[in-house]
Amino acid sequence: MEHDAVAQNYGTGQVLDRIQAGLQQLGKVPGSVTIEDLAAVDEFHIGGRQASEDLLAQLELSAADRVLDIGCGLGGTARLLASRYRCRVSGVDRTAEYVATARALCAWTGLSGQIEFCQADACRLPFGADVFDAACMLHVGMNIDDKAALWSEVHRVLRSGARFGIYDVMRIADGALAYPVPWAADAAASHLHSPQAYRQALQECGFSVVAERNRRDFALAFFSQVRAQLAAAGPPALGLHLLMGASTGARMQNIISGVSAGLVAPVEFIVQKRR
Ligand SMILES: C[S@@+](CC[C@H](N)C(=O)[O-])C[C@H]1O[C@@H](n2cnc3c(N)ncnc32)[C@H](O)[C@@H]1O
Repeated sequence: MEHDAVAQNYGTGQVLDRIQAGLQQLGKVPGSVTIEDLAAVDEFHIGGRQASEDLLAQLELSAADRVLDIGCGLGGTARLLASRYRCRVSGVDRTAEYVATARALCAWTGLSGQIEFCQADACRLPFGADVFDAACMLHVGMNIDDKAALWSEVHRVLRSGARFGIYDVMRIADGALAYPVPWAADAAASHLHSPQAYRQALQECGFSVVAERNRRDFALAFFSQVRAQLAAAGPPALGLHLLMGASTGARMQNIISGVSAGLVAPVEFIVQKRR
């Protein structure tokens, strides 16, 4: 059930066409596209590219590393890892359309040689034990109820001492969150846990917490900036509205209200597999 809800929430059947149309408006063709051009649409989390940069900077990455991006979506963070840090990257996502789009965008940006994408459930990763030097997961945990199964799979595929960066929307206070939100059409498809619950479950699974940061202020500044840009120039050629379609306004309004009211917030965790 959870997986059907995930596929229904994210797949539209038109994502790549919409991106291509947006790129045309910008005067770009597939061969001339850069990862900077795509950042407005392929970083599907609060704070976009800046949020990815902030998280990845804490993973102590080197070019020799093999990195796993869990719930990679269209692959924006994976391409940043490959381009900026020169890592080899594996991206895993449940939504078939996103995996196909991620592969196409990698081909357009010339990064296919460094990145592989697989359609798979994060709770059943198609990799052997101890194979990754680091992992990241941005705005995915809200779709997965059985977080113990998720942490246990990530723990299994990471080598001892490897860092794992999480950036999820978490439950901060009790109170009704209005739906739809970007990750779910209704409350039944949304699995928000508190930072305390994340911390405890990660520790029980064999991770040590290196850092934890509530990014509420960063999120509110990001929302203000997006609103100002919309008011000044309308929707950009490339943006998250290409993924969320007609419900973009309602989904964004509800998450902005939830963060503003202190009910939810994006929170980072940097954890390390205990040696
Ligand atoms: C909000 S998007 C974030 C995508 C990407 N991490 C980013 O920040 O751009 C959430 C993604 O998680 C994926 N997802 C949700 N549940 C999953 C699961 N159980 N296994 C793998 N991917 C999952 C969805 O298909 C979707 O692409």
